[in-house]
Amino acid sequence: MRNFSRYNCPTPSPRAGFLRLLPLSITIQHDVSLRGLNTFGIEARAARLARVTSIESLRELQASKDWSAGPRLILGGGSNIVFAGDFEGLVVRLAMSGRSLLDSDGTAWRLRLAAGEPWHAAVMWTLAQGWPGLENLALIPGTCGAAPIQNIGAYGIELAERFESLEAMEVDSGRLVTLDRDACAFAYRDSLFKGRGRDQYVITAITLRLPRPWQPRLDYGDVRSMLARQNILAPSAPDVAHTIIQIRQDKLPDPAQLGNAGSFFKNPVVDANTCARLREQEPGLVAHAQTDGSFKLAAGWLIDRCGWKGRRWGVEGRAAVHERQALVLVNRGGASGAELLALAAAIVADVAARFGVELEIEPTVVGSEGA
Ligand code: FAD
Ligand code: EPU
Repeated sequence: MRNFSRYNCPTPSPRAGFLRLLPLSITIQHDVSLRGLNTFGIEARAARLARVTSIESLRELQASKDWSAGPRLILGGGSNIVFAGDFEGLVVRLAMSGRSLLDSDGTAWRLRLAAGEPWHAAVMWTLAQGWPGLENLALIPGTCGAAPIQNIGAYGIELAERFESLEAMEVDSGRLVTLDRDACAFAYRDSLFKGRGRDQYVITAITLRLPRPWQPRLDYGDVRSMLARQNILAPSAPDVAHTIIQIRQDKLPDPAQLGNAGSFFKNPVVDANTCARLREQEPGLVAHAQTDGSFKLAAGWLIDRCGWKGRRWGVEGRAAVHERQALVLVNRGGASGAELLALAAAIVADVAARFGVELEIEPTVVGSEGA
C-alpha cells in the first residue's frame, strides 16, 4: 500500500433535502495489492481501493469523481473472483455490518443481513439463535451481499428459496432501491446481476425468510449417508450443518491452505437427447434430471474422466486441478490469473472434444482480460 489520498465532500443527510455539513471522509488507497483480498491468492494490483462501511459513505463515494473516473469493481470476500491482470480502476470493498431478526410469526423468521457480513458466520448465528433454514448453505465462503449474485447453492438448496428481497444502490444514479425475488431473476448459479443487471447495482443488504415449521432438506445422497453413518436418525438443523461442514472439509480445499474459488465451472445443463447420447457413450455419466426435462451433468465427473484430476499446469505446475475434486482449480503458490485461465481453457477444449459439451466458468473474471 504505497500511496494514500483522502477526499472529503459533503454527503446527503438521512433527512432528505439537507446537506450534511460535517464532511465524511473515505480513504482511497492507491496501487494496492489484491493478493490478500481474493481466495485464489492471485497477485494483482488495484489502481485505487476504498473500503466502505456504511450506506452513507457508499453514496458519498458514488457522488465523488473517484466513482466516475474509470472502471469499478465491487468486492466482497473475493471467493468467486479471478484476477486476470491488474485492475486499472476503483475497487470498492463492501464491509457494512449488521444482522437482525426483523420479525417472526407462526409462518417464518425474517432476517436482515448487511452486505459485508460473512455468510458462514451469519448461517451459524441463525442456528445458534434457533432459526433453522440456512444449514445446507453452511461453510460457503464470502459475504451476504454477494450471495444473490450467483444465487449461492449447495446440498440441495439455493439462496432463492430463502430470499425475500435485497437493498441496493444503483451505480449510476446513487438511488437506493429494493428488489424482490422475481426482480432478481434467480436461476442455477445465475441472477439479474450476472445478466442485464451486471455492474448496475451495489447490494447493501439482504432480507431472508426462513419458513416455519422447519423441514430438513436431505435430498443429497452424501448428506443422508453421512448422517446414517453417525446414527443420526432425526437430525436437527445444527446436525445437518455440521454434517455438511464435514463433507465440505473432506472434499474442498480450504482457501487459507490452498488458493481456490470453489467450483471453477458450472455444471452444464443439457437436453434429454444429449444426455441419452452421452449415457450411451459413457455409462458412468453423472446426470441429474431437472424438473423441465433437461439434465444437469456433473462437470467434475466430465473433467475427471478426461484425466485432469490432480494435473499441474504452467510455470512449475503452479496452477493445478485439485486432487480430490476435479471441478476445483487451485493455486499451488504464485500462479497468475492468466495461468489459471489457460489451464481452464485447456480443460474446456478437452471436455468439448470428448463429450461435445461446453463448460462455462463460474467465477467473475476481472482485469486486463476480463471486465
Ligand atoms: P466476491 O468474490 O467478492 O465477488 C463475486 C462477484 O460478486 C463479483 O462479480 C463481485 O463484483 C460481485 N459482488 C460481490 N459483492 C457484491 C455486492 N455487495 N454488490 C454487488 N456485487 C457484488 N458458491 C456456491 O454457490 N456454492 C458453494 O458451495 C460454494 N462453495 C465454495 C467453496 C470454496 C472453498 C470457495 C472458495 C468458494 C465457494 N463458492 C460457492 C463460491 C463463493 O463462495 C460464492 O460465490 C460467494 O457468494 C462469493 O462471495 P464473495 O463475497 O467472496 O464475492
Ligand atoms: N465427481 C467426480 N470426480 C470429481 C469430482 C466430482 O466423479 O473429481 C462426481 C462426484 O462423485 C459426484 C458428482 O461428480 O457424483 C458431483 O460432485 P459433488 O457432489 O462434489 O458436487 P459438484 O457438482 O462437483 C456442486 C456445486 C458446489 C456445491 C456442491 C454441493 C456447482 C458448480 N458446484 O459441486 O458448489 O458445494 O455441488 O452441493 O454447482 C461452487 O459453486 O463453488 C461450489 C463449490
